[in-house]
Amino acid sequence: MEVNLVFIGPPGSGKGTQAKMIAKKFRLMHCSTGDMLRDAIRNGSPSGIEAKAYMDRGDLVPDSIILKLINDALTIGSSGGFILDGFPRNETQAVELDKLLQKLKRTLSFAVYFLVPDDEVVARLTGRRVCCKCYANYHVSYSKPRKDGICDHCGSELIQREDDKEVTVRNRLAVYHKATKPLIGYYKDKGILKYIDASSSIGDVSRDLESVIKRG
Ligand code: AP5
Repeated sequence: MEVNLVFIGPPGSGKGTQAKMIAKKFRLMHCSTGDMLRDAIRNGSPSGIEAKAYMDRGDLVPDSIILKLINDALTIGSSGGFILDGFPRNETQAVELDKLLQKLKRTLSFAVYFLVPDDEVVARLTGRRVCCKCYANYHVSYSKPRKDGICDHCGSELIQREDDKEVTVRNRLAVYHKATKPLIGYYKDKGILKYIDASSSIGDVSRDLESVIKRG
């Protein structure tokens, strides 16, 4: 049976790190709205130019831009299972996702909620470094590259994201608590919510996640 997942959690809870690992292991499409927006900015597309100001402040990008990205990814991009990483992020997006999946005759298997305290989020994000080309994630203490400042996967430079500065991280957290956290209730009511203790090591979180998926 097709595995279709949404990953919900505060910024820095490890959604992207785990999505990459789980997508590889279970052969799922990894669909990160954050990465898609950064691609749009890099390509200079009109939606990227509009999104950039919101992202730099740590605010949510307008739903119209996000829903178009998701619609394209799920309609054109995927025939197998998928992980939606960082989407939905508010109730409007969750309702629109349900409508889209109904149209495509697909269903969500689970919504996985990554539990991490706010202080840990701040430590992770202010220490995060990302590859400027393939977006692989590292951390200055917890997840170092083999060679300082260089991506293990593609050899490109590692940089700090603009929105990983502490003041912006704190705004992203506030936005998360106000707009995204209520989705826990939305998916709990549907009976498809799974919790993951995302404050343990990357390997432990991955093992927990795998067993949640295998148990079904
Ligand atoms: P996006 O890029 O999605 O950022 P985010 O959700 O804030 O998520 P992050 O990538 O910061 O965190 P993550 O949970 O993926 O953690 P990661 O694995 O990277 O979005 C950016 C912006 O785009 C938003 O602010 C918004 O403006 C816009 N946007 C995106 N989607 C949108 C939507 N649907 N609607 C509206 N706007 C949208 O890990 C973080 C760090 O911690 C890394 O260094 C990693 O190595 C480390 N780490 C991971 N796991 C562990 C662990 N278990 N232990 C120790 N360290 C760990």
